[in-house]
Amino acid sequence: MANDNLKKAKKAKNDEFYTQWADIEKEIMAYIDYNSNVFRDKTILLPCDDPEWSNFTKFFAQNFEAFGLKKLISTSYAYESKNVNMPYQISLFEKQAPHFDPNINKVRGKIFTLENDTNQNGVIDIEDLKWQYLEGNGDFRSDEVKKLRDEADIIITNPPFSLFREFLAWIVEADKQFAIIGNMNAITYKKVFPLLKNNKMWLGNRFNRRVNGKNMIFGVPNNYPMTGTEVEIDKDGRKYIAVAGTGWFTNIEHGRRHQPLQLMTMADNIKYSKHKEVKGQEYKKYDNYNAIEVPFTDAIPSDYNGVMGVPISFLDKYNPEQFDIVDLGIVGSCEFTCNKRMEILDKQGNPTGKYTYNAKGTLYTKFNPQRDKYPAFRDVETGELYSSIYARILIKKRGV
Ligand SMILES: C[S@@+](CC[C@H](N)C(=O)[O-])C[C@H]1O[C@@H](n2cnc3c(N)ncnc32)[C@H](O)[C@@H]1O
Repeated sequence: MANDNLKKAKKAKNDEFYTQWADIEKEIMAYIDYNSNVFRDKTILLPCDDPEWSNFTKFFAQNFEAFGLKKLISTSYAYESKNVNMPYQISLFEKQAPHFDPNINKVRGKIFTLENDTNQNGVIDIEDLKWQYLEGNGDFRSDEVKKLRDEADIIITNPPFSLFREFLAWIVEADKQFAIIGNMNAITYKKVFPLLKNNKMWLGNRFNRRVNGKNMIFGVPNNYPMTGTEVEIDKDGRKYIAVAGTGWFTNIEHGRRHQPLQLMTMADNIKYSKHKEVKGQEYKKYDNYNAIEVPFTDAIPSDYNGVMGVPISFLDKYNPEQFDIVDLGIVGSCEFTCNKRMEILDKQGNPTGKYTYNAKGTLYTKFNPQRDKYPAFRDVETGELYSSIYARILIKKRGV
């Protein structure tokens, strides 16, 4: 039980990551650059937000007229439902409101709406934002927030990382447009990958890319344990953390998605590739799937018409006019063509006395001592050695 609570607390620790204004702005502007009317006359819902402390509501309120929005709604999660373990801090926003109620303010979520020029100063902006307590705690799964989801055209937020799958399913079941922040691990989730494969969702303009030498940066609560290297405290004492592998998942179009990858032929890759794993080598075939192994996205041969296994990071360069996604090459995800009994070897290639069928469902190739450090499996019958391949996306040139 104590263990469960610890696990929950650890998970929830990453649920309170606050998004930077610049990251919101760059992503949203990429959608607008592609289609200047993308938000015109639309109702945008920003759930799992905390408008008093986060930037999403402020950003969209400031740009309400420029984007031509019809309505902006944002909801926050009640303080007592969060796992923050910090004293409640009343925002000025709340304290100055006539309907501020200290009896319910910690247990109810809040709803913020912006639709009209309520103060009649000639512009619709953050000054016109109205707020109320919700009936419940603002959980996105509640009927109350679901109703708001159904009213909205577009859903935008950085949802709690621990509930990413559930959050995405919640959007998909209502068939909405969306832009949400998540972690790269999500790509391989059973219910997430098919969306990517079928072009129902793609990676946003920024995904797992370092900008000015840094990963995406998030604000964190003051009591966030400061471990790791990519951590900063600003002059006002606010804490920030850079998180590798994070970025936007969306079904809103942007230009990067339509830029083709510039690639060399297979022969030229073998002649000129900057990667020693490719230069002067043959492209290996998997032993258990009819495809070639391409260890780097920039080594995809432009003239190969069969299926190719490429690193997951390919998705950030994926252009649906150039390639089709065929499958995901990880455990339990695609059909492998053989089922050998193999002994599992340890990280230095030594026998472990443990056995598996079909290399635990990973893609594998014959071990090549010139290229691979250590073998990962040994065929029990023939003694042949194999190298396992990390997760791969299986792709094919479009239209062949
Ligand atoms: C990653 S933070 C992002 C906050 C804000 N959207 C931003 O990006 O600045 C996720 C927020 O969702 C809240 N949250 C956690 N579980 C939730 C749930 N079940 N329903 C709604 N919000 C939740 C967290 O308390 C936190 O405020």
